[in-house]
Formats: sequence, structure tokens, C-alpha cells
Amino acid sequence: MSQIPNDYQPLLAAALEMAENAGKIQMKYFRQSNLEQSTKLNDSDVVTIADKESEAYILGFIRRHFPDHGIISEESGREHEEKEWRWVIDPLDGTTNFASGLPVFCVSIALEHNKDAVIGVVYAPYLGERFHAVKGAGAWLNGLPIHCSGKQELSKAVVATGMPYDRNDNADNNLDEISRMALRVRGIRRMGSAAIDLCYTAAGFLDAYWELNLNRWDVAAGQLIAKEAGAIIEPIRTDRNHSILASNPGLHAAMRQILLHESPNQ
Ligand code: IPD
Ligand code: CA
Ligand code: CA
Repeated sequence: MSQIPNDYQPLLAAALEMAENAGKIQMKYFRQSNLEQSTKLNDSDVVTIADKESEAYILGFIRRHFPDHGIISEESGREHEEKEWRWVIDPLDGTTNFASGLPVFCVSIALEHNKDAVIGVVYAPYLGERFHAVKGAGAWLNGLPIHCSGKQELSKAVVATGMPYDRNDNADNNLDEISRMALRVRGIRRMGSAAIDLCYTAAGFLDAYWELNLNRWDVAAGQLIAKEAGAIIEPIRTDRNHSILASNPGLHAAMRQILLHESPNQ
């Protein structure tokens, strides 16, 4: 593991500060009755006051401290996204969990340099878990280095996935993939936060994770964290936004075969 480059230190410190304070905002509303909940695309696509307040805080911080940087953020979109430095923000990932009182939710903050993620922070405040990674330097959970699992047998693997929000309108909804996978692995989990799925794959709590039709803000930080922890991240589709498989190296080929219907020696 190499050292964090000096140039990245203040940027990492800023990302960690934003994540900690966004987590406090989330906790202020968690399991309270004043969530001001509404839906976006359909009833499966929820937003709350905590998503909006977390985002307003993060965007305000970036505009104050890094006025030259671009931003892509889930709720309020894009600002100068062609800039050399660009922040990719999911102010609350796992909103369905959050709005139901389930504890698997987080804030996800990535910094890209020329569209390549160099810093990623995912903070799950209820769980007290803070993941971060710096490109080329490694990945950490609460300050301790993490590495993906070493399992090689699919029958012993615990994997996670999710279902796309357009599942009611689009038959390409991951049900086929789930039914093929379910009979081959020890267990499938639906954690409800893409960022946490990626971080748990990074830490070896999950052995692999796949999902179709995600957005950049769902995966930007988590992918870097998983990659820096030794996982293989691969796009598994080109026609469904960000559709990815993240896996420990020992299970990657087998996962891929099942998801993509490949024959074993392909
Ligand atoms: C969602 C979560 C979920 C995944 C969805 C995402 P949100 O993000 O990451 O696990 O299945 O596709 O959109 O809406 O809670 O930020
Ligand atoms: Ca999300
Ligand atoms: Ca979100």
C-alpha cells in the first residue's frame, strides 16, 4: 500500500468532513416523523428532507471551498461538470431503508480528476462505518486497511444485488439474473444501498455484488473503495446506464458466467 499523495490530503480531509456532517444531518431525521417524504419516478423512488438537507450542506461546502470544481449530485444535478476536478455526490444512498427506519443508509462522496475517481468516502452514520479510499493508496474502514475476501467457491459465497427503479416498466429487471444466481451461492442479500454493497464487497463482508441501471453517484465512491481493496469491477452491460459486477478476484469469472450466460470456457 502506498502513501496518500500530499496533493490529495486537503481534498480527502474535506471529503471526510463533508461526510461526517452529512451523516449528522441524516441522523437528525432518522426514525423521526418529519421526513417530508415524496416520490420521484414512481412509488419505489423516494426522497426525503434528509436527502435534500444533506445535499444542500455538501454543495454549499464545495462551492465555498472549491469554487472551480464541477459537481454531479443526485437531487440537484450538474454544475460545470466538464471541469478537471469534479465531485460526484449521493447525499443519501439507501433512502428507501432510511424512510422505513432501516439502518443501512449512507452518504457517498467521490472526487474525480479528469473523470477518474481519485478519492471516495462512504459514511454510514447509524452503523458507525466510514469507508474511504485514495487512488493507488488503498482503502480503509474506520481507519483500518480493508481487503476483499479470498473465497473461491461460489457455493460458499454471500453476494448482494438490487433491483432497478424501472422494474415495473422494463422486463429487463434483474429477476432472471437473481433466479440463476440464487441456486448457486450460499446467500443473496438486498442491502438497499449500492454504495454500501460496494464497500461491503471491499471489506470482504460480501464476496460479490452486481446491479443493473445504477447512476454515477451511486457507484463513484464505492467502486474506487472496492477497487483499492482488491476487487474487480466490471461493466456487465452497455445498454443499462451503470450496470456493474464487483467481485473478489477468485469468484469473478464464475459470477460473470452466470450473469452473462457465458459457457465456462468462454
Ligand atoms: C438506490 C440504492 C439502491 C439501489 C438503487 C439506487 P437511492 O439509491 O443504492 O440500493 O438498488 O438502484 O438508486 O435512491 O437510495 O439513493
Ligand atoms: Ca443512490
Ligand atoms: Ca440518493
